[in-house]
Amino acid sequence: MTRPSTLNPEDVARWRRDWDTMMRHYHPDRDDLLAAGLAAAEQIRGRQPERMLDVGGGPGTTAEAVLRRWPDAHVTVLDVDPALLALADVALPQVRAVRADISSAGWRASAGGPYDLVLALMTVHYLPEERVRDWYAEARRLLSPNALLLVSDAMPDAPTAARAHRSGSDPWTAWWTMLARDPAMASLLHERTAALSDLGCAEFVAPPDWHRETALAAGFTDATVVRRRAGHALMAFLAPPDDQ
Ligand SMILES: C[S@@+](CC[C@H](N)C(=O)[O-])C[C@H]1O[C@@H](n2cnc3c(N)ncnc32)[C@H](O)[C@@H]1O
Repeated sequence: MTRPSTLNPEDVARWRRDWDTMMRHYHPDRDDLLAAGLAAAEQIRGRQPERMLDVGGGPGTTAEAVLRRWPDAHVTVLDVDPALLALADVALPQVRAVRADISSAGWRASAGGPYDLVLALMTVHYLPEERVRDWYAEARRLLSPNALLLVSDAMPDAPTAARAHRSGSDPWTAWWTMLARDPAMASLLHERTAALSDLGCAEFVAPPDWHRETALAAGFTDATVVRRRAGHALMAFLAPPDDQ
């Protein structure tokens, strides 16, 4: 990716801090969930992952948290959104930023790998149910033997009403409105509009049991809930000892 030279690193740092504040609204206790997931990854593998992929990694705030814990890790952030990837790229030059769309199988070729750890935080709900099934199988193929996939999203046990549509003064809209106020973001936001024109958010929500059964059917050998909080969960899925 080309690093946008027009973005002020201090503005980018502030926007990324605000992003995490905004995401905490939608992803309760996300810092604890992530910390529990990374601790589980160390424990299950018996060592720190060396190569890590964050799918739908947005502006790279999760990648930054990973690098705080594992400073030597090789981290890739994959996302369809050029504006968010540009923020990741400015803030974290050591991270590989990859633009790809997980709504079709082609993303796997762009993702590289194999990885010791693949993360997807608040991302799979963008995909419809049938696509999430295929996505689990694709994510498994990116993993090295005995490596781990961590997925965190809304996973209530009981069906819930559809989420409120994001419009008006919700934190998501407010964050994007704030970003659009800076003229330096204009061309990236224009690019974003074009990149996302055919994409929506399926708002897919399923309980942990659905994710467990789907991941096992996709070839993972184990699926556990690492931590749950307020209708959200972080789950760990173990890849087989060799490629099956
Ligand atoms: C709610 S945000 C979460 C971002 C990040 N994982 C976090 O927790 O801060 C969802 C992310 O998924 C990305 N995304 C949505 N649909 C996508 C797709 N089809 N392909 C790749 N990324 C996608 C969005 O651009 C966004 O960065």
